[in-house]
Order: sequence, then C-alpha cells, then structure tokens
Amino acid sequence: MRRQRLKVVLTRKLPDAVENRLGELFDVEFNSSDQLFTRDQLTAAARRADVLVPTLNDTIDAGILAQASDNLKLIANYGSGFDHIDVHTARQRGIIVTNTPDVLADDTADMTMALILSVLRRIREGSLHMQSGDWKGWSPQAFQGTRVGGKALGILGMGRVGQAVARRARAFSMAIHYHNRKQLREETENELRATYWESLDQMVARMDVLSINCPHTPSTFHLMNARRLRLMKPTSIVVNTSRGEVIDENALTRLLRSGELAGAGLDVFEHGAEVNPRLRGLDNVVLLPHMASATREARHEMGEKVIINIKTFDDGHRPPDQIVPSML
Ligand code: DGY
Repeated sequence: MRRQRLKVVLTRKLPDAVENRLGELFDVEFNSSDQLFTRDQLTAAARRADVLVPTLNDTIDAGILAQASDNLKLIANYGSGFDHIDVHTARQRGIIVTNTPDVLADDTADMTMALILSVLRRIREGSLHMQSGDWKGWSPQAFQGTRVGGKALGILGMGRVGQAVARRARAFSMAIHYHNRKQLREETENELRATYWESLDQMVARMDVLSINCPHTPSTFHLMNARRLRLMKPTSIVVNTSRGEVIDENALTRLLRSGELAGAGLDVFEHGAEVNPRLRGLDNVVLLPHMASATREARHEMGEKVIINIKTFDDGHRPPDQIVPSML
C-alpha cells in the first residue's frame, strides 16, 4: 500500500519550478498570495504540517513550537540563516531543522563587493547626480572617492561567504584580514593570503573596510557595539550583508553622522524593515533591501535544496543540510 504523502506547508511563494516539483512529490499547501503569515497563521500551519517550509520572515520560537502537532517532524527553511528558528527547542521536540547553505555564498559575496565599491567610489551619489539632470561635465574635484586597491579588508566571519568575499577582494588588490571563531587551515589561509586576528578589537582598529559575514547568534549580537565601532579609523567603512543584529545600528548611525566613521554599505538592518530614519538621510551610506542573495539562480537552487532535504527525510535518511548543535 502507498504511504500517505507528506503534508508540506510553504509560508511564501517560491519559484514556479520549485513549487511544481514539490507539488509532484508531496501534498503541498502553497501561499500563492505571498502574504506574510501572521503569528496565528504560523501557529496554525505548525499544527497541520508534517513539514513546514518557512523563510527568514517567520519567527518560529518556543511558543509556536509548543503548539505544533506531533506530526511536525521537519522545518525545511528556505534560506541559509536560521536565527529566526529556535533550533534548541525544535531538537528537544524531535523536530529536524534544515537550511540552504552554499548556494547563496557567491551572490552574497558579489553584493558585498558591490557595496564596498559603491561606498568607497561614491557610486550612489554619482548616480543620483546624473538622475537629477544637474551634471555639467567632468571636473577634477568632483566625486573624489577612495582607491580600493591596497586597502585593508577585515572580514568578520570567515565561513563560506567570508571566503568568497576574500577571493573577490584579492582580485581588487585588497589586503585580506579576518577574525573567526576558529582559525582557518594553513592551506586555506595561504590560498586566500589572509591574516588571522585572534583579537577582534585589534583587527577592527587597523582596517579600512570591515565586512560583516558572520551569522547572528547570541554570541554575535552587537558584536560591533559602540565601543568597538569607535576603535575603527574615522576613514574606514563598514559593510554588512549578513544580519543587522551583529551591529548596534543606533551607535553606527551616531558615528556616521558625527564623521567618526566614513561610510557604510548595509543590506541588512537590526530591526528588519524598520530602518533607522536617521540612517536613511545620510549621504555616506548605501542601503539595500536585503537583496544580497537575490538572483534567480540562487532562489532556484535554494528551492532545490529544500526539495532534497524533504525528500531525503521522507526516504528515512538524514537530510544533508540538517542543522547540528556545533553550528549553533
Ligand atoms: C538567508 O538565506 O539567510 C539570506 O539572508 C537570504 O538572503
């Protein structure tokens, strides 16, 4: 007799090809309106799903997990970051959590470089000037930025994305430095020509550019607090394509406004879409709507990872992207 198909609930609209394949394999509840689930809707979804497919907008905390049905056995997150899911409580309840690593790293690293270039070379200001119709022609004084080559780049978090940033930055002749929970293997350090700093304080004080590429965890929350941001040189800039919570956004805003930091390129914000209005008004910042991984290719490959994780689980095996305690 055929087994009953897994009931899979998607909280957002995913690429068509991904939804079609999911629909062939499982009993899927789609969200064709793409409206964000309310907390009540998310709780109800956790009550009726065998597999929940959330995104970073869905906070799945202990309260929601406490009301989940016993059938909920897998949370197959569509995304790499999983700081919105209480993985400890899920584990205690026997629920496996998976994510979609690797496939976003190159696109995120590309956008990190785009932000570094945009801030140092004042691309946003130049573009706004052209769009205003005010340009009167070339001038030796106009739009002088900062040369990228030869500058010291400090990468905070040297995982997949951090390393992809290092490879790109090498091609721009930047000097690569990093701080990470663990020092990389010597071969990798040599390949990236990266210098390890055990002390984050000492590294940030010497960098021209700081790129945040570590996940948001309890130990990285406000890792770049007011004290550490103040250690940076007034000519330096900060770029963040990871999670907003790693930087104290109010402190960063104050330092940018007072000229104690030269600029920032931010794709993520401490309070999600509630971006500090005092940050929005600044010329020396480039702000993006959390789009570092937004390529058609990445979104498709993230979906493929979700499918493989669910299918492997359904076949009775350990999903390849299961989040394990050492990752927390
Ligand atoms: C993720 O997958 O966590 C990314 O932040 C989405 O862009």
